[in-house]
Amino acid sequence: MNSHFDFLAPFYDRVISFSRLEQILRVLDLPNPGSLLDAGGGTGRVAAALRPHVGFLAVIDVSRAMLAQARQKDLPAASAETERLPFADGSFDRVLMVDALHHVSDRTATVRELYRVLNPGGRLVIEEPDLRTWPVKLIALAEKLAFMRSHFLAPRQIAALFPPDAKIEIEAEENTAWIIAQKVTDQTA
Ligand SMILES: C[S@@+](CC[C@H](N)C(=O)[O-])C[C@H]1O[C@@H](n2cnc3c(N)ncnc32)[C@H](O)[C@@H]1O
Repeated sequence: MNSHFDFLAPFYDRVISFSRLEQILRVLDLPNPGSLLDAGGGTGRVAAALRPHVGFLAVIDVSRAMLAQARQKDLPAASAETERLPFADGSFDRVLMVDALHHVSDRTATVRELYRVLNPGGRLVIEEPDLRTWPVKLIALAEKLAFMRSHFLAPRQIAALFPPDAKIEIEAEENTAWIIAQKVTDQTA
């Protein structure tokens, strides 16, 4: 999977356009003066658009070539697996994962880690193709037939991976779903 994205990296931003800035700002409750982690952030395509709306932002990914593209945008970018994040508990006010959960090897560990590094009171958003829609069902089937290791989950299955204290909302539009998790504290309840 790594080599797949290493190969795609030089063309990625030209092929995959980003058109959902307003929705991402809304579901992430941005602007915010704090810190944001874009996990599985690839070329920094989304992070670059969010940069003016947050105090500090970092991208992590496993593909060196994707990270090289992010660094060309002057984004702080580090190599790390989402299953084992090299950050202390509560390090980020916002955590984002766009179009990457179905590519990771361990979705349960990834969601646990994303939530662990979220600051209490903070907000975590996972954007995924919505498996409840027919186009996404067909893409999932095609990727299975092509022996790709992607594994899509429906929004409720993703929501079920969070610890019980997470306050979860699901939003969807066309073929995209956003799973929004808040780490509620006594002050924010
Ligand atoms: C479809 S791309 C999306 C990139 C970016 N989020 C975007 O929307 O432009 C999926 C990314 O997930 C990364 N990835 C896959 N498994 C990963 C893992 N276990 N840890 C970190 N990144 C991973 C890939 O290298 C790739 O850059």
